[in-house]
Amino acid sequence: MEKTATLIIDGKQILLPVFEGSEGERAIDIRGLRQETGYVTFDPGYGNTGACKSDITFMNGERGILRYRGVPIEDLAEQSTFVETAFLLITGKLPTREELTRTSVYLNDFSPVHENMQSFYRNYPPRSHPMGILAAMVNAMRSFYPELIDIEEEMNKTFLRIISKIRTMAAMAYKIGIGQQVVYPRPDLCYCANFLNMMFDNPVVPYHTDPDLVRALNVFWILHADHEQNCSTTAVRVVGSGKVNIYAAISAGISALWGPLHGGANQAVINMLEQIHRDGLSIDQCIARAKDREDDFRLMGFGHRVYKTYDPRAKIMKQMCDIVLSKVNQKDPLLDIAQKLEEAALEDPYFKDKNLYPNVDFYSGIVLRAMGIPTNMFTVMFAIGRLPGWIAQWKEDMADPEMKISRPRQIYTGPTLCKYIPVDDRVADAN
Ligand code: CMC
Repeated sequence: MEKTATLIIDGKQILLPVFEGSEGERAIDIRGLRQETGYVTFDPGYGNTGACKSDITFMNGERGILRYRGVPIEDLAEQSTFVETAFLLITGKLPTREELTRTSVYLNDFSPVHENMQSFYRNYPPRSHPMGILAAMVNAMRSFYPELIDIEEEMNKTFLRIISKIRTMAAMAYKIGIGQQVVYPRPDLCYCANFLNMMFDNPVVPYHTDPDLVRALNVFWILHADHEQNCSTTAVRVVGSGKVNIYAAISAGISALWGPLHGGANQAVINMLEQIHRDGLSIDQCIARAKDREDDFRLMGFGHRVYKTYDPRAKIMKQMCDIVLSKVNQKDPLLDIAQKLEEAALEDPYFKDKNLYPNVDFYSGIVLRAMGIPTNMFTVMFAIGRLPGWIAQWKEDMADPEMKISRPRQIYTGPTLCKYIPVDDRVADAN
C-alpha cells in the first residue's frame, strides 16, 4: 500500500503522498495541499522544502557525506580531474578514454573567446568586481554564440563551450584589469594548466606551470563542482524554469554566488583574517564578537545550512593548504590565525551547540592566495568550479516532466483594502 501522511486541519483530514529518495530521504508531497485545504506551507529560506527530485549530488549534512553521481568527493579529489568530474556531473557517468579525448578536443576548440568581447572588458571602470563582469559576459555569450540547438550532441557542445570559455574570460578579466596583454589559451596545456598560464604568463616573465599547483587547482575545482540545491544552483533552476537560454540562467547563478553568505565567503574569510592580523585582534576577541548578537561580525567560513558536522570539502581543502604552501615555500600568517580560530571555535559551547564547523571557504582562500590568485578573483574561481554543477542541474530541470515554472506563494501581511488619497489631501509623516 502507498504510504501517506495524514494532516488534520479545520477538522478535515487529508492524506498526502509520501515518497523516498534512493538514500532514504523522505518527503511529503504537498502539491495538492492548497487546492484541498486553502493552506500553503511557510518555509522562508526553503530549509524544509524539496524543490525537485535530482540524480546528481547526494549530501548528508549530519554525516558529512558528499557524492557526485554516487562517487565520494574524497575519491574524486584524490583520483579524478576537474574535466572528468564535469563530465560525470553533466552526463551521469565517468567518461571512457575516448570520450575524455573528445571532450578535450572540444574544450581546446572552444577556448578562444570572440575578439569583440574584449572591448567590453576594456570599457569597464577600473576596480569593477570581476564577478559582475563575468555575470554580464556569460549573459552576452547568447549574442556571440546564438546556436543553441535542441539536439543532445549540440547541447553538449554548448555546455563544453561555456566550460571552456568561462576560464578564458575569467583570466582575460584579470589581465585587462591589471593593464596587461591578454594571454591566449594554448592547445598543449590541460584545462587547469591553461588557466594558470593565461593568468600568470607575460612576455617578460614567462610562466612555467607546476604539476603540483595544477593538481591543486584540479582538486579545488572538483570540490566546488556541485553542491545540490544551494543558493546559486537554485537561482539557475528558478531562472531556467522560465525557459530562458542557458547563458542567462548561468549568469543568474554567478550573480547569486557573488554574495558573502555564499560563494563570496572565500573572499570574506581572507578579508576577515587580514583584519584580525592587521588590527592585532586576539582569537578570544574574535570568538566573543562572533557570538555577540549585537555585533554583525560573523566567523566567515563557519557554519552551513546543510552540514551540521565538518564539511568534507573543508577537510580536503585544509590538507591542500599544507601541500600548496610547502610547494610555493611560503609561510602564511593567515593560516596560523585560521588554525587558531578553528581550534578555539570547535571548543566553544556556542559553536558546538549550533553545530558550526568550518566550511569549504574557511581554508580555500589561503590555497588560492598561495597560488597567486588575487583576492577579488576568489569568487570567480568558485564560479568556474561550480559551472558543471549548474549545467547539470539546468539540464536535469529542462528534461524533468514534473518541472513547472518556479512561482512560490506568499503570506500577505500588508495593509488591507484602503482608499487612494489625492496628492493634495495627503498628510506628511510626523518625522
Ligand atoms: N558565525 C557566528 N554565528 C553563526 C555563524 C557564523 N559563521 N553561522 C551561523 N551562526 C549562528 C547564527 O547567528 C544563528 O544563531 P541563532 O540561532 O542564535 O540565531 C545560528 O548560528 C544559525 O545560523 P543561520 O544563519 O540561521 O543558519 P543558516 O543555515 O541560515 O545560514 C550560513 C548558513 C552559511 C549562511 C551561515 O552559517 C553563515 O552566515 N556563515 C558564514 C558565511 C559563510 O561561511 N558562508 C559560506 C557557506 S559554504 C559555501 C557555500 O556552499 O555557499
